[in-house]
Amino acid sequence: MVYAGILAGGRGERMGHTQRPKQFLPIGGRPILIHTVERFLHAGCIDRVLVAVPAKWMEYTKVLLEKYLPEAAVSVVEGGEDRNGSLLRVCGYIEKTFGIKEEDVLVSHDAVRPFVSARILEENVRFAREVGAANTMLPAIDTIATGEGEFLDTIPPRELMYQVQTPQSFRMAAFIEVCRSLTEREAKTLTDASKIYRLKGLPVKIVVGEQQNFKITTPYDLAVADFLCKNQPAADEG
Ligand code: CTP
Repeated sequence: MVYAGILAGGRGERMGHTQRPKQFLPIGGRPILIHTVERFLHAGCIDRVLVAVPAKWMEYTKVLLEKYLPEAAVSVVEGGEDRNGSLLRVCGYIEKTFGIKEEDVLVSHDAVRPFVSARILEENVRFAREVGAANTMLPAIDTIATGEGEFLDTIPPRELMYQVQTPQSFRMAAFIEVCRSLTEREAKTLTDASKIYRLKGLPVKIVVGEQQNFKITTPYDLAVADFLCKNQPAADEG
């Protein structure tokens, strides 16, 4: 089975004061989360979709899904305290409800990246099956530097630099095993699935990301996403 874990458990504080967390705000007249879920439902390589949302938004999410995607069987799961917590809750729900087999893959994705392409999803599934883990990454466009306080420190070669996007995908049985092998200290500091894999020396294959697969974080991003939905129909093809 290939599961999709759509992470929508955040509050979206960088979006500023909004009535609802940003994943529920509309772009092109429909909630961001609905656009994202649709991409997975239409992908053809995903068997089951789960969405993690804050506890108090679970009923609201079910109503939205019923309204916009009445035919779809999407499970709504309570999110965690941070993004990784939401991811672990999705894994826990799958383990309890369906059981986990060796070959099962989880494609985890930020709910607020509604323009993820079918190519990105397909490669995530394929690479996670072949290698064990995959991460979508966009080759850096700008030069990336590190800073120390108020000063520039180093400028690593741009051809080695990427911006990390999602999906992040992995064989779930192995991921759970790796998570359970972490020390308490490691578990506290490691908040990213790929980071956990690398710490354990395990390979993570790169799926080349796309600019359009950006994360809606600020009001500017929301305006761009709304513009893309309204003016570039391909961006809204679910
Ligand atoms: N996320 C989650 N559970 C959390 C926190 C975040 O599932 N406890 C999800 C968000 O809903 C989002 C994704 O992780 O889809 C990426 O996180 P980010 O954009 O940083 O979301 P927020 O934490 O909501 O934003 P902010 O940092 O501005 O509050």
